[in-house]
Amino acid sequence: MSLCELTLAHVEVASILHETSFEKPWSEKEFQDLLSLPTTKGWMDENSLLMISHVLDEIEILTILTHPQARGQGKAKALLERLISYAKEQNVCQIFLEVNVENLPAIALYEKVGFQKTGVRKNYYKMKDGTFCDGLVYLLKI
Ligand SMILES: CC(C)(COP(=O)(O)OP(=O)(O)OC[C@H]1O[C@@H](n2cnc3c(N)ncnc32)[C@H](O)[C@@H]1OP(=O)(O)O)[C@@H](O)C(=O)NCCC(=O)NCCS
Repeated sequence: MSLCELTLAHVEVASILHETSFEKPWSEKEFQDLLSLPTTKGWMDENSLLMISHVLDEIEILTILTHPQARGQGKAKALLERLISYAKEQNVCQIFLEVNVENLPAIALYEKVGFQKTGVRKNYYKMKDGTFCDGLVYLLKI
Protein backbone atom coordinates (compact mmCIF):
# COMPACT_ATOMS: atom_id res chain seq x y z
CA MET A 1 0.00 0.00 0.00
CA SER A 2 1.50 3.35 -0.97
CA LEU A 3 0.79 6.53 0.94
CA CYS A 4 -2.84 7.60 0.74
CA GLU A 5 -4.80 10.44 2.21
CA LEU A 6 -6.49 9.72 5.55
CA THR A 7 -10.27 9.74 5.43
CA LEU A 8 -13.11 8.79 7.76
CA ALA A 9 -12.93 5.31 6.20
CA HIS A 10 -9.57 4.83 7.96
CA VAL A 11 -10.57 5.55 11.58
CA GLU A 12 -10.51 1.90 12.67
CA VAL A 13 -7.15 1.04 11.12
CA ALA A 14 -5.70 4.38 12.25
CA SER A 15 -6.63 3.77 15.90
CA ILE A 16 -5.23 0.21 15.76
CA LEU A 17 -1.98 1.60 14.35
CA HIS A 18 -1.88 4.37 16.97
CA GLU A 19 -2.17 1.78 19.73
CA THR A 20 1.09 0.15 18.58
CA SER A 21 3.08 3.32 19.22
CA PHE A 22 1.64 5.43 22.05
CA GLU A 23 0.95 4.91 25.76
CA LYS A 24 -2.26 6.91 25.43
CA PRO A 25 -3.54 5.96 21.97
CA TRP A 26 -6.40 7.80 20.29
CA SER A 27 -9.71 5.97 20.01
CA GLU A 28 -11.70 5.53 16.79
CA LYS A 29 -14.02 8.28 18.07
CA GLU A 30 -11.10 10.66 18.56
CA PHE A 31 -9.88 9.98 15.01
CA GLN A 32 -13.42 10.44 13.73
CA ASP A 33 -13.86 13.77 15.55
CA LEU A 34 -10.49 15.06 14.36
CA LEU A 35 -10.96 13.93 10.77
CA SER A 36 -14.39 15.57 10.68
CA LEU A 37 -12.76 18.97 11.13
CA PRO A 38 -12.03 20.81 7.88
CA THR A 39 -8.60 21.73 9.26
CA THR A 40 -7.43 18.13 9.78
CA LYS A 41 -5.53 16.27 7.12
CA GLY A 42 -3.30 13.21 7.07
CA TRP A 43 -1.58 10.45 5.16
CA MET A 44 -0.94 6.81 5.91
CA ASP A 45 0.17 3.48 4.53
CA GLU A 46 -0.29 0.04 6.08
CA ASN A 47 2.15 0.75 8.92
CA SER A 48 2.74 4.47 9.24
CA LEU A 49 0.57 7.50 9.78
CA LEU A 50 0.80 11.31 9.96
CA MET A 51 -1.96 13.69 10.94
CA ILE A 52 -1.84 17.49 10.88
CA SER A 53 -3.93 20.55 11.60
CA HIS A 54 -3.69 23.13 8.80
CA VAL A 55 -5.00 26.61 9.61
CA LEU A 56 -4.29 29.42 7.15
CA ASP A 57 -0.52 29.51 6.53
CA GLU A 58 0.45 27.32 9.48
CA ILE A 59 0.53 23.56 10.04
CA GLU A 60 0.79 21.70 13.34
CA ILE A 61 1.78 18.03 13.40
CA LEU A 62 -0.80 16.27 15.59
CA THR A 63 0.67 12.78 15.45
CA ILE A 64 3.18 10.71 13.54
CA LEU A 65 4.10 7.06 13.97
CA THR A 66 5.53 3.99 12.36
CA HIS A 67 4.53 0.51 13.52
CA PRO A 68 7.40 -0.87 15.67
CA GLN A 69 8.05 -3.67 13.16
CA ALA A 70 8.44 -1.23 10.26
CA ARG A 71 10.72 1.35 11.89
CA GLY A 72 14.08 2.33 10.49
CA GLN A 73 12.97 1.99 6.86
CA GLY A 74 12.43 5.67 6.11
CA LYS A 75 8.65 5.57 6.48
CA ALA A 76 8.27 8.52 8.86
CA LYS A 77 10.73 10.52 6.77
CA ALA A 78 8.63 9.79 3.67
CA LEU A 79 5.51 11.03 5.49
CA LEU A 80 7.26 14.27 6.47
CA GLU A 81 8.51 14.74 2.90
CA ARG A 82 4.92 14.32 1.67
CA LEU A 83 3.84 16.91 4.24
CA ILE A 84 6.53 19.37 3.16
CA SER A 85 5.43 19.04 -0.50
CA TYR A 86 1.83 19.67 0.58
CA ALA A 87 2.92 22.69 2.65
CA LYS A 88 4.73 24.18 -0.36
CA GLU A 89 1.70 23.66 -2.63
CA GLN A 90 -0.52 25.33 -0.03
CA ASN A 91 1.80 28.32 0.54
CA VAL A 92 2.23 27.39 4.19
CA CYS A 93 4.92 29.43 6.01
CA GLN A 94 5.72 27.13 8.89
CA ILE A 95 5.17 23.68 10.35
CA PHE A 96 5.47 23.20 14.10
CA LEU A 97 5.19 20.38 16.59
CA GLU A 98 5.81 19.42 20.20
CA VAL A 99 7.91 16.46 21.23
CA ASN A 100 8.86 14.93 24.58
CA VAL A 101 12.48 15.83 25.41
CA GLU A 102 13.12 12.12 26.03
CA ASN A 103 11.81 10.96 22.64
CA LEU A 104 15.21 10.76 20.97
CA PRO A 105 14.13 8.85 17.80
CA ALA A 106 11.47 11.47 17.07
CA ILE A 107 13.84 14.36 17.77
CA ALA A 108 16.43 12.82 15.43
CA LEU A 109 13.75 12.39 12.76
CA TYR A 110 12.57 16.02 12.96
CA GLU A 111 16.13 17.38 12.92
CA LYS A 112 16.95 15.13 9.94
CA VAL A 113 14.27 16.81 7.81
CA GLY A 114 15.27 20.32 8.92
CA PHE A 115 13.13 21.21 11.94
CA GLN A 116 14.80 23.51 14.46
CA LYS A 117 14.17 23.72 18.19
CA THR A 118 12.50 27.01 19.08
CA GLY A 119 11.24 26.56 22.62
CA VAL A 120 10.76 24.46 25.71
CA ARG A 121 7.49 23.83 27.56
CA LYS A 122 8.48 22.94 31.09
CA ASN A 123 6.81 19.82 32.52
CA TYR A 124 4.52 19.55 29.51
CA TYR A 125 4.20 15.73 29.49
CA LYS A 126 2.95 13.65 32.42
CA MET A 127 4.68 10.27 32.48
CA LYS A 128 3.30 6.89 33.58
CA ASP A 129 5.18 7.10 36.88
CA GLY A 130 3.60 10.47 37.69
CA THR A 131 6.72 12.53 36.90
CA PHE A 132 6.76 15.27 34.27
CA CYS A 133 8.94 15.79 31.19
CA ASP A 134 9.60 18.94 29.22
CA GLY A 135 8.13 19.38 25.76
CA LEU A 136 10.29 20.79 22.98
CA VAL A 137 8.75 22.99 20.32
CA TYR A 138 10.19 22.44 16.85
CA LEU A 139 9.62 24.59 13.80
CA LEU A 140 10.26 24.19 10.09
CA LYS A 141 10.14 27.35 7.99
CA ILE A 142 8.89 26.59 4.49
C1 LIG B 1 9.74 8.49 15.65
C2 LIG B 1 9.21 7.47 14.62
C3 LIG B 1 7.92 8.03 14.00
C4 LIG B 1 10.30 7.28 13.52
O1 LIG B 1 9.73 6.44 12.52
P1 LIG B 1 10.64 5.62 11.46
O2 LIG B 1 9.76 5.27 10.31
O3 LIG B 1 11.35 4.51 12.16
O4 LIG B 1 11.72 6.72 11.05
P2 LIG B 1 12.56 6.73 9.68
O5 LIG B 1 13.01 5.32 9.38
O6 LIG B 1 11.82 7.46 8.63
O7 LIG B 1 13.85 7.56 10.14
C5 LIG B 1 14.23 8.78 9.52
C6 LIG B 1 15.36 9.39 10.32
O8 LIG B 1 14.93 9.64 11.69
C7 LIG B 1 16.01 9.36 12.60
N1 LIG B 1 15.64 8.22 13.46
C8 LIG B 1 14.51 7.48 13.37
N2 LIG B 1 14.51 6.54 14.35
C9 LIG B 1 15.65 6.69 15.06
C10 LIG B 1 16.22 6.04 16.20
N3 LIG B 1 15.58 5.02 16.80
N4 LIG B 1 17.40 6.49 16.66
C11 LIG B 1 18.04 7.51 16.09
N5 LIG B 1 17.56 8.18 14.99
C12 LIG B 1 16.37 7.78 14.49
C13 LIG B 1 17.21 9.01 11.74
O9 LIG B 1 17.90 10.23 11.46
C14 LIG B 1 16.58 8.49 10.48
O10 LIG B 1 17.37 8.63 9.34
P3 LIG B 1 18.47 7.51 8.96
O11 LIG B 1 17.73 6.21 8.97
O12 LIG B 1 18.92 7.94 7.61
O13 LIG B 1 19.49 7.58 10.03
C15 LIG B 1 8.96 6.08 15.29
O14 LIG B 1 10.08 5.74 16.08
C16 LIG B 1 7.71 6.01 16.13
O15 LIG B 1 6.62 5.72 15.63
N6 LIG B 1 7.82 6.27 17.44
C17 LIG B 1 6.67 6.17 18.35
C18 LIG B 1 5.68 7.29 18.10
C19 LIG B 1 6.32 8.64 18.34
O16 LIG B 1 7.08 8.85 19.28
N7 LIG B 1 5.97 9.61 17.47
C20 LIG B 1 6.48 10.97 17.57
C21 LIG B 1 5.71 11.72 18.60
S1 LIG B 1 6.28 13.40 18.71
